[in-house]
Amino acid sequence: MRILSVVGARPQFVKLAPIAKALEGRAEHVIVHTGQHYDELMSDVFFQDLGIPAPDYNLGVGSGKHGEQTGAMLAGLEKVFEEAEPDVVLVYGDTNSTLAAALAAVKIHIPVAHLEAGLRSFNRRMPEEHNRVLTDHASDLLLSPTQVGMDHLASEGLAERSRMVGDVMTDVLYTVRDQLAAQGQPLPDGVTAGNFYVCTIHRPDNTDDPARLKAIVESLAALGKPVLLLAHPRLKALAETHGIDLAAGSIVLHEPLAYPQLVNAVANSAGVVTDSGGLQKEAFLLRVPCTTIRPETEWVETVELGWNVLVNGDLSRLAGAVERPAPAATDAAPYGDGHAAQRTVDALLEAFAK
Ligand code: UD1
Repeated sequence: MRILSVVGARPQFVKLAPIAKALEGRAEHVIVHTGQHYDELMSDVFFQDLGIPAPDYNLGVGSGKHGEQTGAMLAGLEKVFEEAEPDVVLVYGDTNSTLAAALAAVKIHIPVAHLEAGLRSFNRRMPEEHNRVLTDHASDLLLSPTQVGMDHLASEGLAERSRMVGDVMTDVLYTVRDQLAAQGQPLPDGVTAGNFYVCTIHRPDNTDDPARLKAIVESLAALGKPVLLLAHPRLKALAETHGIDLAAGSIVLHEPLAYPQLVNAVANSAGVVTDSGGLQKEAFLLRVPCTTIRPETEWVETVELGWNVLVNGDLSRLAGAVERPAPAATDAAPYGDGHAAQRTVDALLEAFAK
């Protein structure tokens, strides 16, 4: 059986790592990189650090407007699928690469499996929300990380195609955390263990409007501990365009970190401030309080359990949220047990092996 994975953006490389490992010896695995993310720190280091085999194909699509970027992927992926003739195309998460791959496959009658199915923000301003909904409805097998995801799929009439497998990001996080415990890792310059916050901001709703971005940066700059701001290229480019100083006040400006260094930084931090989906969960799994600069989250369990607080319109609430005391300890495991990749491969073989 031949499984073809399509990835393109940073969070997808993280999800691919445990799947590639779990597929070893069980099925042939073809990896396609769309090239959506292309900077070394956004792409190559993840393949190296997480031991992912080099992609069999790289479309080199790069950046662009949504239609331009997604369209280029669609055309490129169709050719690759025709050549590679997979039994199933596996797509990950909610990026433009996910949607392009699902659409390219379904049009030429190749079955599609969607990993991380069923997540919803119900916020139609987010490109990821369109990508999720459209991908789920185009897919033949929906692999959901959580019960909440399963419930969303059921309410959209997709229960029969859905399987709960757990979250593969838990698998990779636990593996890397255990390796770090064995090896130790230095922290980036300018921060000391227990006395800094880890911050990422990259969502268009936070970066693209200069007044909004300026207000967020000013709130971060005024926090009472150093803020390690791991600047995504989108953030850097827009701050420069709008003349916003990203290194103001408490902010310690830094390049994006490789995955093991990121896990190490979060584990040693006093808290996380972010608009990333993955980081909200990583903070929770490492039991570090998180503050999310968004009106809602797909990872509602982190909020319900008290480990994540949402701040959006009124940024004067940010400092109080970030500096809040740690919540009550919990042994809840809404994101699985670290064996989601194994269950994903079992489900793929059961559904598509000839
Ligand atoms: C994409 C995903 C988002 C995910 C994020 C993780 C979509 C619609 N969004 O957002 O869901 O959370 O990846 O990072 O697919 N850029 C570079 N170098 C790179 C990659 C991007 O400079 O390696 C720049 C581009 O020029 C562009 C900006 O970053 O200006 C945005 O890149 P893009 O891939 O379109 O979206 P992300 O914001 O990264």
